[in-house]
Amino acid sequence: MTEKILITGATGNVGTEVVRNKRDKSSIRIAVLDVPKARTALGDDLDYVYFDFLKPETFANAFAGIDRVFLVRPPSLSNVQRDIAPALQAAWEAGVKQVVFLSLQGVEQNWITPHYKIEQLLRNSGMDWTFLRASFFMQNLSTTHREEIRESSEIVLPVGWAKTSFIDVRDIGAVAARVLGEEGHENRAYTLTGGETLDYFQAAETMSLILDRRIRYANPSAVGFIWRQIARGRPLGFTLVMTMLYTLTRFGNAAEVTSDVHTILQRPPIRFQQYVQDYRHCWT
Ligand SMILES: NC(=O)c1ccc[n+]([C@@H]2O[C@H](COP(=O)([O-])OP(=O)(O)OC[C@H]3O[C@@H](n4cnc5c(N)ncnc54)[C@H](OP(=O)(O)O)[C@@H]3O)[C@@H](O)[C@H]2O)c1
Repeated sequence: MTEKILITGATGNVGTEVVRNKRDKSSIRIAVLDVPKARTALGDDLDYVYFDFLKPETFANAFAGIDRVFLVRPPSLSNVQRDIAPALQAAWEAGVKQVVFLSLQGVEQNWITPHYKIEQLLRNSGMDWTFLRASFFMQNLSTTHREEIRESSEIVLPVGWAKTSFIDVRDIGAVAARVLGEEGHENRAYTLTGGETLDYFQAAETMSLILDRRIRYANPSAVGFIWRQIARGRPLGFTLVMTMLYTLTRFGNAAEVTSDVHTILQRPPIRFQQYVQDYRHCWT
């Protein structure tokens, strides 16, 4: 019998790509906050279920008959014991065999992050786990930082000259779909990066060439960055988490390149240049 996979975060950056990459649509169930909105975004021909990490009454329907789960921690949920643990407990009780979790590059040394705590929970959950520890998404530039780039032709991030091994979320989605569809990835952690490292001066240069206008890397201090974000109306909590992650990048934490994407997909990761080409409409 075909296994059934529950996909959380399916309307988000990575979840959308996991859905797109699962060829056998009958094997997946989409767990979302807003079913009509998800239907419009992802199509009518999928099995949807209402699911909210914060509403335990939504868990039974979501996990019934499920073998594997793709777990995305929504960025707004930071209290792991309160917000995420109850759903994982329900998954185990419902007989889920494996959870594939979208984690963070370098999380092993970063015990303060929710991702670290979720990994610990999963290791002790009784279910098999697979951690996809992703580097910074290229798509941050076409989502979170899109307006700033479009309006002022500037990338404003506090990382100095440090390098980042950016990954395209389309590659993460392809890896997740693969890992969810075959045996052999149980209780393994993969670090998913692109095939090259770039600093933001180089990223801005590539964007300038492809967009045919000057994109500048503003290179602010951490404090300057916080002020800019607050002025743009970004919530303080979200801004502080971003500042922490970019400060780690400044100290070289995002510069590691691994071969995990290439090994799993049997092809090189998507390059930054290709990403800018494919998403150029976002900044024009
Ligand atoms: N950005 C990066 O560079 C990076 C790198 C490595 C790891 N990560 C991690 O990746 C994760 C985010 O992935 P993403 O960017 O694909 O997600 P995203 O685009 O931020 O989307 C979040 C998803 O969670 C759903 N959601 C929000 N609240 C929920 C709730 N209470 N119950 C159920 N679902 C809920 C949202 O549904 P609606 O659409 O209905 O709101 C949406 O589908 C985070 O944990 C982040 O730390 C990010």
